[in-house]
Amino acid sequence: MNLPLIKKLKIGVLASGSGTNLQAIIDACINNAIDAEVKIVISDVSTASALERAKKAQVPTAYHKRSSYPTKQAYEQAIIGDLKKHDVELVCLAGYMRLVGKDFLDAFPHRVINIHPALLPSFPGLDAQEQALEYGVKITGCTVHFVDEQTDNGPIILQAAVSIIEDDTVETLRQRILQEEHKIYPQTIQLFAEGRLTIEGRRVRIKTNPKSQ
Ligand code: GRF
Repeated sequence: MNLPLIKKLKIGVLASGSGTNLQAIIDACINNAIDAEVKIVISDVSTASALERAKKAQVPTAYHKRSSYPTKQAYEQAIIGDLKKHDVELVCLAGYMRLVGKDFLDAFPHRVINIHPALLPSFPGLDAQEQALEYGVKITGCTVHFVDEQTDNGPIILQAAVSIIEDDTVETLRQRILQEEHKIYPQTIQLFAEGRLTIEGRRVRIKTNPKSQ
C-alpha cells in the first residue's frame, strides 16, 4: 500500500536561552505530532542551551555574534542567509532576545512568529511574569503571535490562560506558563502547516480542520 507523502513544513528557530520551547517543538516534530521539521536553530548567544538541545537532536545550528557585524542589517542578513539555505518556510522566535528588523520581516512576510509569556496586549516586553504578579492580575498566560517591527505587537494566533495562585513566585508562575507555552507553540505551527491561518487586520482567522468535518 502506498502511504500518502506528507510534506513537512520547514521551520527555523531563533533562540537566545534555555530552549524549552525549542525542545517542545523538536519533540512534537519527532513524535509526528506536527507536520513540521526543524531545519536549523540559530542563536546570538554561544552558550545558549538551545544550541545544545538542537545538537542533541541532530538539528543543524548556527551562532551569530551581534558585535561581529558592523550593523543590525548585516547581522540579520547573515541569519536570513542561513534560513534561506535551509529553505525555511516559517521562522519561530523562541526566547530570542532581539527585536527583528524590517529586512528580516520582508524576507519572511507573515512567516515569523513569536511566543510571549503573558496574555498580550497585557505585559509586553521583559519580565512579563513579574509584571503580572506586581499588577495583581488573577489570570495571565501566554500568547503566540505574528511578528511585526514592534515588541510583542503583531496579530495574535493562539493564547492560553494560567491562573495566578496565592503562593506564586515569579519562578512558579514562569514554570506553569511554560507548560502552556509548550502546548500552544507546536499547535500554532501545526495550524500554519495546515494552511489554516489568515490575517484580517489585527485578527487571525483559524479555518476549521477539514479532517474533523
Ligand atoms: C519563554 O517564556 C517565552 O515565552 C519567552 O522567552 C522564554 C523562553 O524560554 N519569549 P525557553 O528558552 O523556550 O525555555
